[in-house]
Amino acid sequence: LYGDERRNSQGFNIEIEHEWSTFSDRIKPFMQTQWKAGPLINGQLITENVDIKSVLAPYDHSETVGSIGWANADLVNDALNTAAQAYPAWRDTPVNERATALEKLADLLEENYGEFMALCHREAGKTIQDSIDEVREAVDFCRYYAVQARKNMSAPVSFTRHDQRTVQMTRKGRGVFVCISPWNFPLAIFLGQVTAALAAGNTVIAKPAEQTGLIAFRAIELMLEAGIPAGAIQFMPGDGATVGAPLTSDSRVAGVAFTGSTDTARLINAALATRDAAPVPFIAETGGQNAMIIDSTSLPEQVVRDVVRSAFASAGQRCSALRVLFVQQDVADRIIPMIKGAMQERSVGLPEQHKTDIGPVIDREAQSGLLNHIARLKQEATLIAESPLPAYAEKGTFVAPTAFVIDSIDQLTEEQFGPILHVVRYKAKELDSVIDRINATGFGLTLGVHSRNETTAKHIAQRVKAGNIYINRDQVGAVVGVQPFGGQGLSGTGPKAGGPHYLNRFTVEHHTVLDT
Ligand code: SER
Repeated sequence: LYGDERRNSQGFNIEIEHEWSTFSDRIKPFMQTQWKAGPLINGQLITENVDIKSVLAPYDHSETVGSIGWANADLVNDALNTAAQAYPAWRDTPVNERATALEKLADLLEENYGEFMALCHREAGKTIQDSIDEVREAVDFCRYYAVQARKNMSAPVSFTRHDQRTVQMTRKGRGVFVCISPWNFPLAIFLGQVTAALAAGNTVIAKPAEQTGLIAFRAIELMLEAGIPAGAIQFMPGDGATVGAPLTSDSRVAGVAFTGSTDTARLINAALATRDAAPVPFIAETGGQNAMIIDSTSLPEQVVRDVVRSAFASAGQRCSALRVLFVQQDVADRIIPMIKGAMQERSVGLPEQHKTDIGPVIDREAQSGLLNHIARLKQEATLIAESPLPAYAEKGTFVAPTAFVIDSIDQLTEEQFGPILHVVRYKAKELDSVIDRINATGFGLTLGVHSRNETTAKHIAQRVKAGNIYINRDQVGAVVGVQPFGGQGLSGTGPKAGGPHYLNRFTVEHHTVLDT
């Protein structure tokens, strides 16, 4: 955190103890709560014929956070019917009413900040800072899409033709939208997708990530309290095969918003394409192999601070996170030991502890994939550092932040979604080949550049294919409304979340020629 960012949206500075302790009093009542959740159809919690799953805390698998019922195929069908029936009324609800309900939802999220932070800590293993950011981003999405809907959908847009006839453009919702969200932003991305679809006048079936259904369920409860009609939002927790696959192959679906892996995006795209139905929009935000390039003119202290935050904040579980750092040979022997030193200062620990910088990864599957990769690189690459783990780490799914020097980005065949940094040394004359190698991955999400040479920084920024480029700063934490977020190529279809074009993709346009 730098400068003004220290005083967050809740008006306190986390580093000033009495300010933090007043705020943390709002979280404490929820640190023992056992939440219960399940499918919601037309506002009714379904408790029969559901598969009940216990939710375990990622930092300690002996701690239960609550339980959630997973839906079956019959419930998916009921949810589709309900959403389809509710669509015309919600589409025709005045934009102002839809937007007001979303703003009310934002207010309710802020009123319930403490509970949502507790859910972030306990269900998703998020640190204090990450939890504050998560809730704030969710609030921002609600308000931003409410404003966008009012701006773009309240009144027809008029065009005047050369013959003075007027053409009017109106936008309306498309129908039933399916929103499939990831566990790494279990509230912010969940609500970002859902509120955009609702603001635009669609009814929604929301499938949360398998790992983080409790926090999503609480958000749906607040939506109903905020005045979103029960028919407009159906909640379908469950796995991809039982819930995701039937949803995305159903002919009643008018669009899909998805954030997750590139492989799953391909499956959804294929399912949508082979339906006996009209083609529909597919908005996918997927993976990355994000790089940062630092040259010999960069400022080492600043580089190290930004590298450590970009690679290890949120335990590296951000799609924007830095995976491959290219360091110019001339400064590598200075910068790499500094990165090592900074990593040894990182505190890995329990999410709700004030001193923790890095929490656990989400589950055993994620942990074992990351540990396998670390074990492989210990044979094939040069270890720079491995941050220390606390004694209790084995109770949960912790992975020590680890950095290696590797020979080439080509050694990385897939994204490692966790706290692992790969460093590649390059010579000044190889800069263009570094750019080509990054582009050759086919991904294009974030890029970091550290250079005091404006020509070099611009050259890199122009040639690397990436949706979000950050110069002389860290490369995570895009802010809704001012840093629209999303990639290209294997990283996603666009339009960018939190940007001015996102909402339009959830609408159909009508143009009417008025002949006088
Ligand atoms: N939007 C997030 C970020 O910018 C990643 O999903 O870090």
